[in-house]
Amino acid sequence: MSKPSTIAIDGSAASGKSTVGARLAQRLGYLYFDTGVMYRAVTWAVLSRKINPENVEVVSELAEKLLIEVKPNGPQDGRLYTVLTDGQDITWQIRSPEVEAYVSLVSSYPRVRAALIAQQRRIAASGSIVMVGRDIGTVVLPEADLKVFMHASAEERARRRYHEILTQGKQADFEEILKAMRERDKQDREKPISPMVPASDAVIIETDNLSLESVLTRLEQLIVAEQTMGQVENKR
Ligand code: DC
Repeated sequence: MSKPSTIAIDGSAASGKSTVGARLAQRLGYLYFDTGVMYRAVTWAVLSRKINPENVEVVSELAEKLLIEVKPNGPQDGRLYTVLTDGQDITWQIRSPEVEAYVSLVSSYPRVRAALIAQQRRIAASGSIVMVGRDIGTVVLPEADLKVFMHASAEERARRRYHEILTQGKQADFEEILKAMRERDKQDREKPISPMVPASDAVIIETDNLSLESVLTRLEQLIVAEQTMGQVENKR
């Protein structure tokens, strides 16, 4: 019996899901795909074309025709992958405060979601993938072999973001980061379509007091358990 081929990891902003997902994919030799990047790429394209992010029609049309490519590697500047839209490298631009401010709104539009979800399903169709996002286990890949939902308190996640920014040699205000984190959680949770909730069959991992290594060990245990269960079911 082979390893679970499709692994869905969902969780809130800064829950650690991206780092964990990337490391897990590396260990398994799987493709790592962070779906948040796609919503960010559309938002960046909207802003760079001076489109009003509140214009649902125009934003949706753009999402339906925009070519988003995510390639492994690229320049050695700390990136996990390279994001391109229409051939332009926007890997760092999609992390800007402007994109942060509008990505939740843009990702709430049904046609934007439908366009991106269709692409995500195509990318996952060949298996051997760790796909990370908010609705992977519930909407994008409800048949995933293993579903994980990572959770951490807003304080812990704000602390992580704060240290991340300081490490880059930039200034940061902890209280401001915490406020923004709570605001985005609220928006993501209350989104009328694809709200961020764990799938009923997801394994929930609380990461507040867990190191990256401990989370990875836990995931590897889950993968072995999944494999063993598959073997038992196959013999029946
Ligand atoms: O994971 P992230 O912070 O890069 O996600 C950016 C935004 O995209 C976030 O506001 C939620 C949204 N998103 C989504 O709605 N569905 C996903 N599968 C991934 C991200």
